[in-house]
Amino acid sequence: MFQTVTPVEFSTVGRKLAGPSGIRELMEDMGRAMTVEPQMRMLGGGNPAAVPALQALIRERMQELLADGDAFERMMVNYDPPPGNPRFLRSLAALLQREYGWDIGPQNLAITSGGQNAFFHLFNLLAGRFENGRRKKILLPVAPEYIGYADQGIEPDLFLACRPTIEWPAGRAGKVFKYAIDFPAVEAALACGDIGAIAASRPTNPSGNVLTDAEVSHLSALAAAQGIPLILDSAYGPPFPGVMFAPAQPFWAPHTILVLSLSKLGLPGTRTAIVIAPENIAQAVGAITAITGLANGTIGQQLVLPWIESGKILELGPKILQPFYTEKSRAAAGWVREYFDAAGVDWALHVNEGAFFHWLWLKNINLTTRELYERLKARKVLTVPGEYFFFGLETDWPHRHECLRLNFSRESEAVREGYQIIAEEAAKAQR
Ligand SMILES: Cc1ncc(COP(=O)(O)O)c(C=O)c1O
Repeated sequence: MFQTVTPVEFSTVGRKLAGPSGIRELMEDMGRAMTVEPQMRMLGGGNPAAVPALQALIRERMQELLADGDAFERMMVNYDPPPGNPRFLRSLAALLQREYGWDIGPQNLAITSGGQNAFFHLFNLLAGRFENGRRKKILLPVAPEYIGYADQGIEPDLFLACRPTIEWPAGRAGKVFKYAIDFPAVEAALACGDIGAIAASRPTNPSGNVLTDAEVSHLSALAAAQGIPLILDSAYGPPFPGVMFAPAQPFWAPHTILVLSLSKLGLPGTRTAIVIAPENIAQAVGAITAITGLANGTIGQQLVLPWIESGKILELGPKILQPFYTEKSRAAAGWVREYFDAAGVDWALHVNEGAFFHWLWLKNINLTTRELYERLKARKVLTVPGEYFFFGLETDWPHRHECLRLNFSRESEAVREGYQIIAEEAAKAQR
């Protein structure tokens, strides 16, 4: 006989963190599709592809580690200090100094259990409620922005987002658009709100936008003038993994927090990210790790250590990932033109400058993309509805109900069929 147990009451923080969230739904959908629902055409989630040339390098490196008894034992048996493995931190700081002339040392670095975890630490360090009763927010200069941030605040309403302007690059027949930062809007938000930090992903998940070097310098100057950090999420960007199709420089300044991750290199299972930050912030991240997790996983750091020491890690993006994902993006964009035009759909795509998503704009659809997502899921196509990426905006924007994020990195046949089915359902939704 099972006894029925009255559920215990959760704290306010507990209810917020354990309650429904977009990222939980997305990860559960993705997890099911990758395990028990193989018939699902998986265009949702942010899983990287298994890129054969990179997988081969990872396998080779793992064999090397297994063959080296001492290194393997050390990796498996020892806890690292909370900010990360000292040799890894020294080597990475040396690489970044050598290659880019950044004035940083190991004290500016902290490893976390993936970038997701890093942002939870950073956002709650820099925004929320402060001692003097003030509240501060994280300013997102461009909405749409990464869904994974949306529910990370321990305090409610952690984000304030700005609408971008929309540009239509010439020669693209009005089918390709690009978000650009609306600087007057950003300056107005800085002037009237208590902002603890400015944050942006570059390349941006979901749109594949890459903030230009000029936009990043301008944001950096605004942050410096306010005495607040500029957080750049380089989960896909430079210096690594470098899934970039547009020329853009890695950026660093003393008030910048740059977050890198091994996930999109092909190692999401190792849960390894690196925070590069002013010393007091990097040390605070290490201190939070000690409390919440003691230490980080060692495997990701040890796997890539020789590539950090030699600098080879900087070549993997340009030599292996860029050609692979460029081809995936090109093929999928061809299917958009073929199927969407044939179905008479009024569509536009954000210019794909990095990461592995198409951000599809279906103008004037007569249902929300959340409803469209349900219809597509019923036809075994998994996407991510656009609504989730517009958190922090103070006013509604019809555009937020008209976009879908599509991960084009999986097997070509599944992507092609998926795009064909989306075209059919989009045509119905525009009638
Ligand atoms: C923009 C962005 N930032 C951070 C993350 C977090 O990734 P991870 O925790 O695997 O490093 C992701 C994952 O998809 C992402 O897309």
